[in-house]
This record gives sequence, structure tokens and C-alpha cells, in this order.
Amino acid sequence: MLILGIESSCDDAAAAVIETDRPGVATVRASAVANQDDIHRAYGGIVPELASRNHVITILPVIERALAGAGCTLGDIEGVAVTRGPGLVGSLLVGLMCAKGLAQGAGIALVGVNHLEGHLLAPLIEHEVAMPYLALVVSGGHTAIFAVEDFGRYRRLGSTRDDAAGEAFDKVAKLMGLGYPGGKIIDEMSREGARDRVKITRARVKGAPLDFSFSGVKTAVALYLASPAGVATAAADLAASFQEAVVEMLIRPTMAAARDLDASTIALTGGVAANSRLRERLAAAAEADGRRLVAPSFKYCTDNAAMIALAGSYRLLRGERDPLTIDAEANLAL
Ligand code: KG4
Ligand code: ZN
Repeated sequence: MLILGIESSCDDAAAAVIETDRPGVATVRASAVANQDDIHRAYGGIVPELASRNHVITILPVIERALAGAGCTLGDIEGVAVTRGPGLVGSLLVGLMCAKGLAQGAGIALVGVNHLEGHLLAPLIEHEVAMPYLALVVSGGHTAIFAVEDFGRYRRLGSTRDDAAGEAFDKVAKLMGLGYPGGKIIDEMSREGARDRVKITRARVKGAPLDFSFSGVKTAVALYLASPAGVATAAADLAASFQEAVVEMLIRPTMAAARDLDASTIALTGGVAANSRLRERLAAAAEADGRRLVAPSFKYCTDNAAMIALAGSYRLLRGERDPLTIDAEANLAL
């Protein structure tokens, strides 16, 4: 079955074509992304109105790119899987309306997909992973631990109480005047910095060992920057110290959940899964515990449509379809 995936929940417009005949096992024939970093950089963050306006311009070309890359036409596609939430509602609507139009015009099945389900199943694109597995989803919009029990059966074990980890990276980079998006810049800068140079308290959520909180580390960096010591500290040292704090605050609840569940596999997914220090430390922690860490390559960590196609595919393979009346939902729950 050839499936077209469409994703536009935030600032990236993406389309992909996958081929599959078994749930969770797919070949990515093409995956295209129209990135908007250059548009939002001047504002130091995503401007929702600009994101949706640009999706209107790029969504059809990006779909055409995916179809051309896969060597097929819309006539070969048997189902369309599209993100319908959570995300920015204006952005979501562009991809969803486009998917509905294509499905109706070509007379093919449509399924709406939860963006988080895409991130949770993304590790299956390149790896064979038996369920149940534990997944840490860590991106600009989400930070949560899930037990992936089966296709369509996900149990949330812990979440952030405030900022997402990626949001903390981006906000700290902005405070430090490093540019946007901040995660990658801080990751690269940290390689030259001393991780123990600045003392940053690792926050824990009282009574909820599997939850996260990142607003405190962000404030700690802001206060430090304004202090005399902050003025004298090298940016690389501050970046490395901040990153180490975030990495440790992600690892502790994840490993605790892995032990609770006795999960043999931990999957790391979402944009922040690209972080080199997080990969290194979590892989070491998993190995020390006799568990396996699986992380998608960078292009499937950040927002992409191959993961959306995969997350829609098990339903399409069963013959399920959604009506053309499905709507975009900014706070769609999983
Ligand atoms: O999954 P994603 O593409 O979009 C959302 O759904 O949010 O994640 C984007 C986030 C941004 O906050 C970005 O700063 C962060 O992922 N990110 C990183 C790295 N690369 C991207 N954070 C830390 N280290 C990185 N290397
Ligand atoms: Zn995402």
C-alpha cells in the first residue's frame, strides 16, 4: 500500500510517501520538508500567522516533491494520512484541508493522525522494535514519557508541568543572544564548554517522579546572566552547564519509568532527540541498566511526514478511514 503523509502542525510543511503492507514496517519512498527557520529567525521564535501563511505557499510544492521523489503520482496513492492535532490551529488547517481535497478529488481514503503518535512511532521507520517499549518524546512543543503498548494504545506516564525541553533550549539561546532555533546552537557550542562551570539546580516535581519541569532552569540562566559572575562567564561554559542540567533532568524520570515497566527498549524521539549529549548520556544509562536505546536519525526526529504516514498506515491497512468532516484540534489528546 502506498500512503501519502502530510504534516503542517507547526512551522514545517512536510510530505512523504511510504510503502507498507504490515503495521509498523514501511519503506520510505520519499520524505520532503519545507523548513521555515529563515522566516521566524528574525523574531526569535515561531510567529503562528507567518507559519500558516507560508504553509499555504509551500504545501502543494512539498507534496509534489514527495510524489516525484517516490516516482509516483496521486493516482498510485491508496491513502492519505494527515496530522490533525495537536499544534497551531492555522498551520494544522492548511495540511488538513489540502489532504481532504486530495482525498476527495482522487477518491482515496483519509485518516487524521495525532502528531504525538507520529513521534512515538518514528523509531519504527528505521529500526525493528518490539512492543511494548518506552518512549521519551522531547521536542519544542512536548516533553513526555509514554508506554507504547500496541498500535493505538499509548499510556502517558509523565509529562512536563511547564515548558517543553526544546522550548527551554530555544528560550535560553534567545536570552544568551545565540540565535534561533537554539537547540542545535547550544548543542554545538557545548562541545567547547565546561559542563560543571555553572551550578544549575536540577528541578524535580515533588510527588511525581516521572514528571518534568524546565521553567526553573530557564530562570536560573536569566538570573545568572544578569549577575557579575554571569557577565564574566564564557558563553560556551554556560551553554554546556545548562545543557547538562536539562539532559540529567530528562534522563532521571526516563530511567525510573524504564525500571518501573522493566522496558527492554527505550525510544528517544522528537526534535531534541537530535541532541548529541542527550543521546550519549541516555545510551550509557540504558546500557548500564541492560536496556537498548533506539533513536531515529535526525530527519525523522524533527517534524516530518514519514512518521505521520506510518502512524496512519496501520489504520489504513485495516480498511479504516475518517470522514471528510474531521477537524483540526489544537489540543488534540492522545
Ligand atoms: O520535533 P520538532 O522539530 O518540532 C516540534 O514538534 O516541536 O522539535 C524542534 C525542537 C526545537 O526546540 C529545537 O531547538 C530542538 O528541537 N532541537 C534541539 C536540537 N536540534 C533541534 N535541541 C537540542 N539539541 C539539538 N541538537
Ligand atoms: Zn513535533
